[in-house]
Amino acid sequence: MSETQTAPAPASAGPLTDKARALLHEWVQSDSLRKHCEAVSASMRQMARVNGEDEDRWAAVGLLHDLDYERHPNLELSETGHPFVGVASLRATGWDEEICRAILSHADYSGVEPVSAMEKTLRAVDELSGFAIAVALVRPDKSIHAVEVRSVRKKLKDKGFAAKVNRSDITAGAEMLGMPLDDLIGEVILALRAEAPRLGLAGAASDQTVM
Ligand SMILES: [Fe+2]
Repeated sequence: MSETQTAPAPASAGPLTDKARALLHEWVQSDSLRKHCEAVSASMRQMARVNGEDEDRWAAVGLLHDLDYERHPNLELSETGHPFVGVASLRATGWDEEICRAILSHADYSGVEPVSAMEKTLRAVDELSGFAIAVALVRPDKSIHAVEVRSVRKKLKDKGFAAKVNRSDITAGAEMLGMPLDDLIGEVILALRAEAPRLGLAGAASDQTVM
């Protein structure tokens, strides 16, 4: 780890995180969607740590942001699908407005723009965490521990790799946060390393450097 990197967040747990994970498992059966939410949650937790924010709260938002995506994928981008259905259910069960608003704001068609640090971070790490995982999974060892910032950068330039991932969402996310893209990638890699066993990305390595 370089001196500019923050230490990885501890294992993902906490009262809100645990409650959010139980809800995620109730709503989502797909292993890949659960893992996506876990990856975004780990990244949110790490970024909360970097910014001195509430790690449990930010991690919970990551777990909940695609809660309704499996049941209501909302390909038509209507107000009767994701993320509106999930947010309505969260509101009805007492989840507060800061969390609900953040979840709405990660969908660029919701009409809710990301304003707070939590909201901007969710928008920034949603695609990036999936992309970093894709970089790990094409390695023979499938290990996030061997993924470096420069390897993610290189794959971002390779338009044929993970072609569905919108590169401009990733660069715009870093810009919105006012953070160099390399730093954001570094934090996301650290976040994913901290949760590597849960994400199936542990490979054989355990303590290599990020940069
Ligand atoms: Fe997502």
